[in-house]
Amino acid sequence: MTVRRFLPKDSKEVSDLIIKTLREVSIKDYSAEYIENLIQRMQPENILKRAEHTHFYVVCAVDRIVGCGAIGPFWGKTDESSFFTVFVLPDHQGRGIGRKIIETLEKDEYYLRAKRIEIPASITAVPFYIKMGYTYKNGIDIPDGEGLLRLEKFR
Ligand SMILES: CC(C)(COP(=O)(O)OP(=O)(O)OC[C@H]1O[C@@H](n2cnc3c(N)ncnc32)[C@H](O)[C@@H]1OP(=O)(O)O)[C@@H](O)C(=O)NCCC(=O)NCCS
Repeated sequence: MTVRRFLPKDSKEVSDLIIKTLREVSIKDYSAEYIENLIQRMQPENILKRAEHTHFYVVCAVDRIVGCGAIGPFWGKTDESSFFTVFVLPDHQGRGIGRKIIETLEKDEYYLRAKRIEIPASITAVPFYIKMGYTYKNGIDIPDGEGLLRLEKFR
């Protein structure tokens, strides 16, 4: 398993990975309508655009991409950053790939320059991020209007 920076040629494969994971895993925590709306914003062109504004990484097995994750500024700030688009293929979950993605993001310059990291987390991923040392922002442990929980870590 290797981790490398995303390349534009990866956009379709990464989009497919995310969509598969949303449909097979995230669906247990969200309505089908919510998932299908999200999928509209996870098309290859959306991934390409996101990779222009973040440091976007992919985890590669021998023959395919099995995970992804990105870090970028939190609302343009230089001392706060945010994680985006952390996904692991359903049949590769529970084997330490998510941890590898977070460890990679936590070595990135956007992490190292930040005093605070905020994650707009899916309901599905909250136990994972808590395991990675992130805590509820302002102690709020219920989803907001977007169906997300805000987690954070101070450095
Ligand atoms: C969340 C996700 C990225 C985690 O990836 P993963 O490869 O399965 O995670 P790992 O195997 O590296 O797990 C790391 C640690 O977190 C724990 N963990 C992971 N998911 C967990 C869960 N749902 N509940 C409790 N603990 C969990 C693991 O037990 C492991 O702990 P350990 O190292 O002490 O054994 C993956 O499950 C996923 O893609 N989920 C669906 C998409 C999603 O919601 N993405 C986040 C968008 S914000």
